[in-house]
Amino acid sequence: MSVAFHELEVSAVIRETPECSSFELRVPAALEEAFRYRAGQHLTVALPWEEFELTRCYSLSSCPDLRETLKIGVKRVAGGRISNWMNDNLKAGDSIMASVPEGRFVLDPDTRSGAPLFLFAAGSGITPIVALLKSALATTKRSITLLYANQDERSVIYGSEIAQLAADHPGRLAVRLHFDATNGYLEQGDVRSILHHSDIAEFYICGPGPFMELVEKTLEEAGVHEELVYVERFVSPADPDRVHTDSVHEASLESPDRFSLWLDGRSRTVPYVKGKTLLECAQDAGLQPAHSCESGYCGSCMAHVNTGKVYMRTHEALSDRDIARGVALLCQSLPASSEPLELDSDSTSFRAASAVKSSYGKRASRLAAFGAFAFMIAGTLILRLVD
Ligand SMILES: Cc1cc2nc3c(=O)[nH]c(=O)nc-3n(C[C@H](O)[C@H](O)[C@H](O)COP(=O)(O)OP(=O)(O)OC[C@H]3O[C@@H](n4cnc5c(N)ncnc54)[C@H](O)[C@@H]3O)c2cc1C
Ligand code: FES
Repeated sequence: MSVAFHELEVSAVIRETPECSSFELRVPAALEEAFRYRAGQHLTVALPWEEFELTRCYSLSSCPDLRETLKIGVKRVAGGRISNWMNDNLKAGDSIMASVPEGRFVLDPDTRSGAPLFLFAAGSGITPIVALLKSALATTKRSITLLYANQDERSVIYGSEIAQLAADHPGRLAVRLHFDATNGYLEQGDVRSILHHSDIAEFYICGPGPFMELVEKTLEEAGVHEELVYVERFVSPADPDRVHTDSVHEASLESPDRFSLWLDGRSRTVPYVKGKTLLECAQDAGLQPAHSCESGYCGSCMAHVNTGKVYMRTHEALSDRDIARGVALLCQSLPASSEPLELDSDSTSFRAASAVKSSYGKRASRLAAFGAFAFMIAGTLILRLVD
């Protein structure tokens, strides 16, 4: 089953920085229900490119809790096809084809009570982060720390919006802007210097690979439990003219004739048809595990391999660390041995809200002891607001 696209009109184009534009999208009344979303989710756009149709994910920087107009922010990537095309050509009144919003990079609804929230963004990674920030401010009483890294002051996206949020929520939102041009690349010490209560806080990270690696590593070394860390990787799919499927290798793989998939709290048995992905087989069996791009780059279909082995055609959405933990993408996975195969689509990932839920009980007692949270970053944080 392939992703369904709907025509949306571009109602406004906002030049955020020389390298980044926001596009507001008008959702027709008939699609409003389908386009309901949670802060932090993304949609997939499909655009014609020579004889192909290319797809790319873009996170929504708008906040559904504030009923803001659907908005994506697209930053140019050097040599990139779609990001440059959109910045150069897409204008108000044009239409684009977009999927309904999807994704697991969302706030855990069970953590509204008070756990501090740490948001780490670099460059265009601010798009889902600013949506999470607005949502957390609007719907919770959590204290929030945002660390936002950029090349320089000119490249800060949504700077005035963030400055306004900080001004509106003194004592609750602390913002540290980091500029590579003046401060050098972000270092582990910069991350460590803002951490506090890291045993009960939650952490969201989005930005270029090296930035995310640095923050993830620092949190890991600080003893932060992986279930409290959510990451969103901005990667492109392999375009049709760049895709490479190793059909010879795939044909040589052994496979069981069925596999088990935990979904919505139940284990389901799914017949396996050779050559098909696990997602395709699950769909053939009438199941609907979460998925979006079906190309290995959005991460929506992550599942944990409990037993057995899988071969993934591509896995851009996963880090080496994810793979080492046994995380696989259902849309890219085929069985790689005849031994029994069991995957867990529910609680696999530290990025899935359901996984965080399961760890919430463990944290509840620590949260109770935490009591009223004293927000004491002012002395250590440099709050630099952008005008
Ligand atoms: C869940 C998700 C959310 C995202 N949200 C956002 C967002 O909010 N804002 C945003 O700006 N981006 C976002 N992205 C990233 C976005 O989807 C694109 O990856 C990005 O815009 C680059 O696309 P592009 O077509 O411009 O570049 P591409 O054409 O995909 O190229 C990317 C880079 O790879 C190189 N490249 C690619 N293939 C080859 C090849 N075969 N040989 C040599 N070089 C190659 C290109 O030269 C270029 O440097 C998100 C991605 C995901 C998965
Ligand atoms: S559906 Fe996007 S990675 Fe599988």
